[in-house]
Amino acid sequence: MRPDVGSLPPYEAGLPLEEVARRQGIDPSGLAKLASNECPEGPFPEVVEAIAAAAATINRYPDNSWYQLAEAVASELGVSPDQLMFGGGSSELIRVVALAVGGEGTTAVYSWPSFVIYRMATILSGAAPVEVPLAAYCQDPDAILGAVRPDTTVIYLCNPNNPTGTYLPLSGVQQVIEEAPEDVLVVVDEAYYEYVTASDYATAIPQALSRPNVVVLRTFSKIYSLAALRVGFAVGQAATLTALRRAQAPFTVGTIGQAAAITALRYPERVADRSHRNAQQRDRLLTELAARGVEAVPSHANFVYLRREGCGFDDFLSRGIIVRAMAEGWIRVTVGTPEENTRFLSALEALTLAAAR
Ligand SMILES: Cc1ncc(COP(=O)(O)O)c(C=O)c1O
Repeated sequence: MRPDVGSLPPYEAGLPLEEVARRQGIDPSGLAKLASNECPEGPFPEVVEAIAAAAATINRYPDNSWYQLAEAVASELGVSPDQLMFGGGSSELIRVVALAVGGEGTTAVYSWPSFVIYRMATILSGAAPVEVPLAAYCQDPDAILGAVRPDTTVIYLCNPNNPTGTYLPLSGVQQVIEEAPEDVLVVVDEAYYEYVTASDYATAIPQALSRPNVVVLRTFSKIYSLAALRVGFAVGQAATLTALRRAQAPFTVGTIGQAAAITALRYPERVADRSHRNAQQRDRLLTELAARGVEAVPSHANFVYLRREGCGFDDFLSRGIIVRAMAEGWIRVTVGTPEENTRFLSALEALTLAAAR
């Protein structure tokens, strides 16, 4: 085993719900899974039909050029199909980037805390992470640029940032893109793009199309409710994506995922409704947390990062709520359905009272 890979902590995806429920001695339907920033609503019914239809063809390998999916996403985004590259979730694309541009003797710069896959992919490639502390829970363009070294090959911007839910306004993203050395790839991870409602937030797709060293990542795992099917994509210049593809295994986006994603794209108005419902519930959580004196970071995504001294993952679990334990004293909770959020707030209240006794 390579020592650096051997010392990597495994990705903590959590136990299956049925097993968690069995261990807690409760019915699985009594659990609220608020740990992985998934959409609490199931896939659109038409997507389920498309999945059933695609299932009949899985004796064949999937389309390795994602032809129809690329056409569908291209027309949705106003780009050309060769400016898109698909992966088994956007996390596969982060690994592809790390393998393609990283490796021994190089460094990757990103903020911390942020999405753990940047760290894992960097180390897996043999590169060294350079982790830049967040400033007041936000990514700091000056600090990020200041951390870039001659051996840096990639910068990851997580926009909005997981786990804090803070975003970099377009001006901050542009500053990093414009001031980063031209031979450093800037990856702007927009996994939660659809949830942001702030007016000074914008996609970096135009920058990715105009510069060879910028790519934007998006995913079907979040607002499109396809987390289990593993479909993400990168947007960038065709030559950049062709180069990155050399580090990708073939067939990582399955036929069922491709069919589901194409169908999910047909309902933009439902996606907008979801974003609206999420924003309402996010505001509700933030308001109620503030009313209870709980420190929480104002989020622009579908999760909230909050301080919980003295009660953590296990305490919530014992009340049927699965949250994500983060840095010491902090948890991240996904915005769930209104009922799930009510249950989370009640559990928080009960735990706070218990701790005060
Ligand atoms: C910031 C960020 N990027 C990417 C992803 C990866 O999503 P997927 O691999 O499911 O597309 C996640 C998932 O939690 C995330 O938080």
